[in-house]
Amino acid sequence: MKEISVEIDQNAPVKEPERQFFFMEKCKEELKKQETELGRKLTANVTTFGCQMNARDSEKIVGILETIGYEMVEEEDADFIIYNTCTVRENANLKVYGRLGQLKKKKQKNPYMRLALCGCMMQEDVVVEKIRKSYRFVDLIFGTHNIYKVAELLYQRMMTDRMVIDIWKDTDKIVEDLPSERKFSFKAGVNVMYGCNNFCTYCIVPYVRGRERSREPKDIIREIEKLVADGVVEIMLLGQNVNSYGKNLEHPVSFAQLLQEIEKIEGLKRIRFMTSHPKDLSDELIEVMKHSKKICKHLHLPVQAGSTRLLKEMNRRYTKEDYLALVDKVKKEIPDISLTTDIMVGFPGETEEDFLETMDVVKKVRYDAAYTFIYSKRTGTPAAVMENQVPEDVVKERFQRLLDEIQKISAELTKEDEGTIQEVLVEDEDSQDTQLITGRLSNNLLVHFKGDKSLIGQLVKVKLVECKGFYYLGELAED
Ligand code: SAH
Ligand code: SF4
Ligand code: F3S
Repeated sequence: MKEISVEIDQNAPVKEPERQFFFMEKCKEELKKQETELGRKLTANVTTFGCQMNARDSEKIVGILETIGYEMVEEEDADFIIYNTCTVRENANLKVYGRLGQLKKKKQKNPYMRLALCGCMMQEDVVVEKIRKSYRFVDLIFGTHNIYKVAELLYQRMMTDRMVIDIWKDTDKIVEDLPSERKFSFKAGVNVMYGCNNFCTYCIVPYVRGRERSREPKDIIREIEKLVADGVVEIMLLGQNVNSYGKNLEHPVSFAQLLQEIEKIEGLKRIRFMTSHPKDLSDELIEVMKHSKKICKHLHLPVQAGSTRLLKEMNRRYTKEDYLALVDKVKKEIPDISLTTDIMVGFPGETEEDFLETMDVVKKVRYDAAYTFIYSKRTGTPAAVMENQVPEDVVKERFQRLLDEIQKISAELTKEDEGTIQEVLVEDEDSQDTQLITGRLSNNLLVHFKGDKSLIGQLVKVKLVECKGFYYLGELAED
């Protein structure tokens, strides 16, 4: 779907990323004109909904907007507002419509105000139709495959007076080397792959993010080397299913091999990754994690459900027994591993027996943390038309039982580490008490302790003095 296809500048290079740098310059000139008229700088804000993929995409958008000359501010003060949307569950969509309603009045008052929508929701035709009809004041709509084009699209909008819509159904294009802004100075997310090929029957991600595409190892390594030179000590490798990384490259590389290459980067201290699909977790990866000095001993291994029958309906391609055997293997090889998961309650046809199988997995695995979701029907996915959708009251009651069990177990596990000394990456000043700083353990839990904020970005040893359920109070330990 393309609202405007006119060539907006004959001189624009065809090659990327040069073409986008050209449009960044063009936008910059326009912005300068507007600033002179207004007598002040123009401001922008990107609000991110959804997962870490979206968070990373937003950093890329911010990088481009800053290059153009926008000053990034809070949403209330912004002339250019961008919502990077998520559609994994219905309430993610509702949030966006709610906020859009409020923006209409604001926009009427500020003639310089621009509004863009991008991200996963925009990959759905029904959403774009609805916005086109009912939210005419939106300036720019683009999707997940062409965020690198934000400068070009913005320039189109500047040159015309119509809503610009550019959505691609899919892409095999990966554009490297565009500006990007980071939220933290010492840690960063790095995409290793885009898209997903798994088509779990409840999930909309493959439809809105397209087919799996892996980045070349050399591009990933180069990006991380640059980040490290810039002060980053921890990276999070991102992909919907990192365990299938590299299979479709011209010269196939496994995720475990990629990790080994990344490990060699001097100055990099910690490596994290997500998400691991249980069906693709290899012995090679377990082996690499076991011997690594840098890979955090944390594995996010979404189970979704415990019943083999439901797992089949979900197209997860493992059984309850496969999953439990995998967990046993991981725990045996890496005894101090911290396991986390995603669990869904209320998938169509879920019976009390099915749910008890989920509870059984939770009790057997003993997760350090679990993200729990109530099944949400996504139009266009196979599960949306399955019979026996589970009544809301039944789902809510099961969801509560599951939460109680998970919390009980994770509190017990957190308690077990009380008194130990662990390595912590200092991330921030404490938001409640300025005497304290906050850091993250290898297993992703937080610890608050007395210290100077000059330690932010450094790895320090901390004694976990008191467990507070899901976090610790600690004190700096002598080396
Ligand atoms: N690629 C990851 C998950 C990405 S989506 C994986 O395969 O594990 C993050 C989580 O959202 C999923 O693990 C799932 O638990 C949840 N989720 C996805 N679709 C959902 C839906 N329709 N309703 C409720 N939760 C959903
Ligand atoms: Fe969705 Fe499944 Fe792909 Fe994860 S692996 S993004 S749950 S389809
Ligand atoms: Fe949402 Fe898109 Fe992520 S649908 S969960 S933002 S991939």
